[in-house]
Amino acid sequence: MSSKKEQHSDAARNMWETTNDDYEKFRPAHDEAGVRVLLEHLGLVDNVNHKNGTPPADDVIRNNGATPTYDVLEVGAGTGKCTRVIKDILGENARIVVLDPVSGMLQQLKAMVPGVDVLVGFCESIPLPDNSVKAVVSSQSFHFYANESALREIHRVLIPGGKFGINFTADDEDSPLIHEVLELIREYKYPECPDHFVNPLLDTSWKNCFDAAPLFTPLEEHLFPWENQQTLPDAESVVKLFMTYSAIAREPDVRKECAERMLELLTTDPAIKQNGNPLEIPRMSALYCDLWSLVEASPLCSAAAVI
Ligand SMILES: C[S@@+](CC[C@H](N)C(=O)[O-])C[C@H]1O[C@@H](n2cnc3c(N)ncnc32)[C@H](O)[C@@H]1O
Repeated sequence: MSSKKEQHSDAARNMWETTNDDYEKFRPAHDEAGVRVLLEHLGLVDNVNHKNGTPPADDVIRNNGATPTYDVLEVGAGTGKCTRVIKDILGENARIVVLDPVSGMLQQLKAMVPGVDVLVGFCESIPLPDNSVKAVVSSQSFHFYANESALREIHRVLIPGGKFGINFTADDEDSPLIHEVLELIREYKYPECPDHFVNPLLDTSWKNCFDAAPLFTPLEEHLFPWENQQTLPDAESVVKLFMTYSAIAREPDVRKECAERMLELLTTDPAIKQNGNPLEIPRMSALYCDLWSLVEASPLCSAAAVI
C-alpha cells in the first residue's frame, strides 16, 4: 500500500471508530439473493453440516486429512451487514470468523451477529494459521486492501481447494439523486482517494492487484440488479447515509460543509427533491465468481466476488 493510500484508509478507519452507529443504522442490508449466489460459488451452501464437530468428507480430502477450523472468514466485516446474511444462509452450524481493524465496528457486529468468532486486525496480516478456512469473503471492503500482501494472506489461510469471493454493491448513477450526491462527494473527497472508493463498478482498478500476485484464477464478473433497493424517510437520513462514505472521512469543518450542501441539494434540486416523500437509493450488484486460488503442486483453490 502506498503511504498516501494508507493515510486515506487511516482517516476512514478513524471516522468509523466514532460513526459506526450511523453506519449500522443507515447503510443498507445486503441482498440475500446475491450473497447466496456468492456462497454457492464458494461451495459453502449445503456443505457446512458440522453437527457434533464432524466436517464434511470433502473438507478432509481437500485438506490432506486435516480439518479447517472455519467454513468462512469474512475480512473487512465492519458492523456485520454481510455476516448476518451469511449466517442466515449457512445456518447455526456454520463456523464463521470475522476480521476488521476497527473495534467500534466490531462492537456493533458482536451485538448484531452473536455466535461468530471476532478478530481485530488487518487483512494484510491475518491472525489465523495456514490452511485454516474453507472460504474467504470480502464484502464491500476489498478496495481497502486490494494489494499483494492481503492477497498472499488470504491465499495462506485458505485450505487447498478453498475459495475467495468479493462482494460489492454500487450506487446506481443512472439515478439523478445518486449522480448528484456522488458528484458532490467527489468534490469533497481526499485528493489521493482513488475513484473506486466512490464507485467500484465505474472504476475497477481495484482488480489490478490480482495481476501483481497471480495466486488466483481470473476473476469472473457477473452483474445483476439488486432487488432490495433502500428507501429512506427523508433528506436528513440520506445525508446521514452518505456521510458514512469513507471518501469523505475529512476534517470536521469540511464534513460539515459537505453535509450542508448535500442537504440543500436534496431539498432544493427540482430533479431530485421529493417534497417530503421517502427517497429511494437504487443500487447495482455485481458478482465475480470462480476465482480459484492457485496452489503449487496442489488442487486449485478458488475465489469469487459479488458487487
Ligand atoms: C465499507 S466497510 C464494509 C463493512 C462490511 N463488510 C459491510 O458490508 O458493510 C469497509 C470495512 O473495511 C475495513 N477495513 C479497512 N481497512 C482494512 C484492512 N486493511 N483490512 C481489513 N479490513 C479493513 C473497515 O474497517 C470497514 O469496516
